[in-house]
Amino acid sequence: MARVTVATAVYLIAVLATPVLGSKPHAQNSTYYNPILPGFHPDPSCIFVPEWDDTFFCASSSFNAFPGIPLHASKDLQNWKLIGNILNRPEQLPRLVETNRSTSGIWAPTLRFNDGNFYLVTTLVDDDRVDTDSSRWDNIIFKSEDPYDPSAWTEAIHFDFEGYDTSPVWDSDGKTYIVGGHAWKVFPGILLAEANLETGEVGEWEVIWNGTGGTAPEGPHIFQKDGWYYLLAAEGGTGLDHMVTMARSKTIRGPYEVNPANPVLTNANTTNYFQTVGHADLFQDGAGNWWGVALSTRSGPEYLNYPMGRETIMVPVTWNENEFPVWSSLSGEMSGWEFPQENLELDGTGPLITEGDTIDFEPGSVLPTHFTHWRFPIPDSYTISPPDHPNTLRLSPSKLNLTALNGNYAGPSGQTFVGRRQQDTLFTFSINLDFSPTLLEEEAGISVFLTQNHHLDLGVVMLPANSSTAPFPGTNLTAPSAELIPHLRFRGISYIEVPKDIVVPIPDSWSGKALRLEIKAHNMTHYSMSTGPADALSQMKTILDVSNAPVSWGFSGVILGVYCTSNGYEGSTPAYISKWRYTPQGQFRN
Ligand SMILES: *[C@@H]1O[C@H](CO)[C@@H](O)[C@H](O)[C@H]1NC(C)=O
Ligand SMILES: *[C@@H]1O[C@H](CO)[C@@H](O)[C@H](O)[C@H]1NC(C)=O
Ligand SMILES: *[C@@H]1O[C@H](CO)[C@@H](O)[C@H](O)[C@H]1NC(C)=O
Ligand SMILES: *[C@@H]1O[C@H](CO)[C@@H](O)[C@H](O)[C@H]1NC(C)=O
Ligand SMILES: *[C@@H]1O[C@H](CO)[C@@H](O)[C@H](O)[C@H]1NC(C)=O
Ligand SMILES: *[C@@H]1O[C@H](CO)[C@@H](O)[C@H](O)[C@H]1NC(C)=O
Ligand SMILES: *[C@@H]1O[C@H](CO)[C@@H](O)[C@H](O)[C@H]1NC(C)=O
Ligand SMILES: *[C@@H]1O[C@H](CO)[C@@H](O)[C@H](O)[C@H]1NC(C)=O
Repeated sequence: MARVTVATAVYLIAVLATPVLGSKPHAQNSTYYNPILPGFHPDPSCIFVPEWDDTFFCASSSFNAFPGIPLHASKDLQNWKLIGNILNRPEQLPRLVETNRSTSGIWAPTLRFNDGNFYLVTTLVDDDRVDTDSSRWDNIIFKSEDPYDPSAWTEAIHFDFEGYDTSPVWDSDGKTYIVGGHAWKVFPGILLAEANLETGEVGEWEVIWNGTGGTAPEGPHIFQKDGWYYLLAAEGGTGLDHMVTMARSKTIRGPYEVNPANPVLTNANTTNYFQTVGHADLFQDGAGNWWGVALSTRSGPEYLNYPMGRETIMVPVTWNENEFPVWSSLSGEMSGWEFPQENLELDGTGPLITEGDTIDFEPGSVLPTHFTHWRFPIPDSYTISPPDHPNTLRLSPSKLNLTALNGNYAGPSGQTFVGRRQQDTLFTFSINLDFSPTLLEEEAGISVFLTQNHHLDLGVVMLPANSSTAPFPGTNLTAPSAELIPHLRFRGISYIEVPKDIVVPIPDSWSGKALRLEIKAHNMTHYSMSTGPADALSQMKTILDVSNAPVSWGFSGVILGVYCTSNGYEGSTPAYISKWRYTPQGQFRN
């Protein structure tokens, strides 16, 4: 029996490995699809770590989301699993609670492995400060010996740098450096300083490259190869002009000579569905092949509808000795170097990137690894399966709603919200809501949340009956008194035009019942928001179809979630969430 198996295996390897004449010794190219990490996963940084069982790891930016800096792993470059979040305890970085503005928080991380340790170097940005205020930039290092153990990530080690996009470099001569982008004291450029990653001590910062003339040279990484220092950077800003450029030097401090083939990767000035390509990183797999990762938005050149924001894409790279690497151009379906054999044996607590949710908040369970708050949660506001309501998530209201303090931060009292990233062009997200408000403006519901200034909410809210803007769909319900009754309310806020509020009384026949609330992306540009009694789904009514343009903005991507608030009033009635479902229904790639 064993003999037969061995013989069969040898035969299969021989067949698969038959080289195509004239090609490199890669048996067969892989076909795969971009983005590899769909949804809010910008500024990717990826490594291959033979010491950890030949595993690939990728980190991405999280801005004000908490837990932050998601870490995905794969052994085959096809199946990516969320194995944890690098920023997983408020003590690691207390200042995240007060970062002001929607574009603040954790900007681009760099993930590296050196001498048995994982390092994550990044910047906490307070984006309402001007460039000249050094408190705008809080550059930090997290370190871990075990990427699968969230508690193994250290608290932030801070270092001085008035810029962002910081990345460590271990030189073959034994010195350690950090390279970063942009500083106010000099012309925007790429800067380098010697650094001690254990203590955060840094030497003098020196400009080593100014880029090729694009705005905002940033996102640098340095690679040593064939006696050269290769400098990888992003230019053009993170919008439609984004591009990846390279330069190289014989010494780490320069002078750097510009790659004549720049930009090495961009979709600027094309009609490709994938736009804003840039902010790249490079890694080599176990077979010695190179790959590049970068961010991109599936927006087309119109750049109006991209609710998933900046996502992680991957392209094969050919890097011959003594030459600049050649990057394959980006598209939805790719052909690249042969992948390692499919392997789903991955530790870590999160789901595969392609998985949906069937979450019933069972007694004894915890919030899933991919669930996300906006800044730090107040732990007591989230209770799984309280004794009187098993299989629910109890939300206690925050005084502040999802907009909170003028769309900036929420202060120490937080905002009660938890969600998961939109990762599919088409999906259905739904929950059951059991909520019996009694006081004015008590509200609980579901949200398409991009930032505190960009969200589309459908909730149950206690309001005077004369607040209705229309009868409930399919009924003639109107009650012109000022008596408080539960209403359904759609309310959106954005810098981009949103539909007017919809306030409709909940039909009497539904009162006291749990409601199903649903958000469905029924096409590339619109969500429909619906509700009905949880025990009679045939009565579901669509409250509105709403464009995703108001949640296509800035640096982050949509989080679909639930909230509970007293809207600044006195309410304290909790909401009970159950039957949490997220069903992927299609990915558009061109
Ligand atoms: C937050 O930023 C806004 C402007 O964006 C400013 O008016 C406000 O004072 C800031 N708040 C804090 C606490 O820094
Ligand atoms: C970058 O540009 C500044 C301003 O023009 C110049 O002073 C500096 O020498 C340049 N640095 C490099 C490394 O090219
Ligand atoms: C895109 O086109 C503009 C206008 O012609 C040009 O300035 C820019 O350099 C082009 N960008 C890229 C990356 O080719
Ligand atoms: C296989 O992928 C590599 C890397 O993208 C590319 O250079 C090569 O042309 C591909 N070969 C085939 C046969 O598609
Ligand atoms: C609403 O009122 C109109 C006109 O009085 C009537 O024809 C219709 O049947 C009513 N609809 C419902 C659902 O009560
Ligand atoms: C509702 O009725 C109350 C009491 O009559 C009144 O003060 C209030 O202005 C009314 N609100 C609306 C929106 O009509
Ligand atoms: C998506 O559906 C909406 C209706 O909800 C429609 O107005 C819009 O044109 C559709 N968009 C596309 C791209 O089909
Ligand atoms: C949020 O709450 C404030 C009061 O705290 C209120 O003025 C505002 O309208 C609410 N907005 C949204 C969109 O939640």
